[in-house]
Amino acid sequence: MRKLHINGNNGPLNGKVKISGAKNAAVAIIPAAILSSAPVRIDNLPDIQDIHILTEILRSLGVEASWHNGTLDIDAGGLSGWHATYELVKKLRASYYLLGALAGRCGKAVVPAPGGCDLGPRPIDQHIKGLTALGARVEVEHGLIKVEAPRLTGADIYLDVVSVGATINIMLAAVRARGRTVIENAAKEPEIVDTANFLNAMGANIRGAGTDVIKITGVEELGGMTHTVIPDRIEAGTYMIAAAATGGDVLLCDVIPKHLDPVIAKLREMGITVEVADDQIRVVGQCPPQAVDVKTFPYPGFPTDLQSLIMVLLTKARGCSIITENVFEGRFRHVDELKRMGARIKVEGRTALVEGPVQLTGAPVAATDLRAGASFIVAGLLAEGETEISQVEHIHRGYEKICEKFKVLGADIREIEG
Ligand code: EPZ
Repeated sequence: MRKLHINGNNGPLNGKVKISGAKNAAVAIIPAAILSSAPVRIDNLPDIQDIHILTEILRSLGVEASWHNGTLDIDAGGLSGWHATYELVKKLRASYYLLGALAGRCGKAVVPAPGGCDLGPRPIDQHIKGLTALGARVEVEHGLIKVEAPRLTGADIYLDVVSVGATINIMLAAVRARGRTVIENAAKEPEIVDTANFLNAMGANIRGAGTDVIKITGVEELGGMTHTVIPDRIEAGTYMIAAAATGGDVLLCDVIPKHLDPVIAKLREMGITVEVADDQIRVVGQCPPQAVDVKTFPYPGFPTDLQSLIMVLLTKARGCSIITENVFEGRFRHVDELKRMGARIKVEGRTALVEGPVQLTGAPVAATDLRAGASFIVAGLLAEGETEISQVEHIHRGYEKICEKFKVLGADIREIEG
């Protein structure tokens, strides 16, 4: 089993880091390519496990897919299957996008129900509500989600919960449905906008992505095109917080600063210097940062995916900070591990009280999900002594070349077997 070893208290991070393409856009856009029988090219993909698993799934369905150095050429003209195999799907959270894409392309889909993960329950009732509203018959049995949709027809769908996945999945199923679909109370994440831009470039008719009302007018066919995936705002936020926590001076390149507004605002509130240029962000940390309260919310609120990261930064802040996790119940699995490193955190329901400043100490910890794993790397950078992180496969699922990128910035980090 591979583990990460970090020797902490190694001084501030300094230098430049290039941000990769957005995982959470890529895992939607790759299945979306199934909707067209014409070849498409997707650029700026991160070289991470989720992308390669998705590519394998497409190939297993008869889709031609060839990867070359961050570019994926997909030709779904020969699509011959609609049943994604459990062996591949179980490793991937976002396999549910195959439901909307396959239903939209060939009127049927069989996808193993997505595995849970350590953020608490991950229901897909809103996905099913949307597909059903479009005329699909959806059954869940023997751990499989079966969709029968001989002819999808546009509908008005009001989401009960602001859900990124449900918003995208319904959009995928609606782009070739007959008539107009309106999704209300839609999520507004940049990854949704990127997916809509990809589909519109193929000939779809989607208006309002990025707002809470998305209107889709169905079209018969979609064509081919080339798309460049947006930068990963969560990866960017991870390095911004790491720079702030270590009191470093880090320049992030190839970002869209607008997508980081809630993170920039919060760091500035903590007294951290953040300078913004057109596609760059510079973070200059000074210790100790001020204690602040953080509430996670759907975009443009503070992202839940950076909750564990900002929690580590707050262990260095003078005073008490309150973190409220409003998106996922149970997204505090990382707290126990941080407490083993000396953090002083109390959890009550959806709220965590973080006291600081605290000198963390290195310890063996297990990554429960990819963002918790990233937060343990930052904690390891701050800790006295060595931190060993196991279950690193979670981290590699979503962060391209994370060891190399941290090493270039000055971290004493290495990945070893066993
Ligand atoms: C996406 O997950 C991201 N994953 C998550 O990132 C991210 O944390 C999340 O959005 C919120 O921003 C991908 O894009 C692949 P949701 P998703 O549906 O779509 C509830 C990462 O680390 N809900 O927006 O699964 C749900 O339980 C990952 O990159 C329902 O109740 O999240 C949650 O409380 C982790 N019913 C809330 O909505 C549903 O049918 C938001 O979930 C769907 C969701």
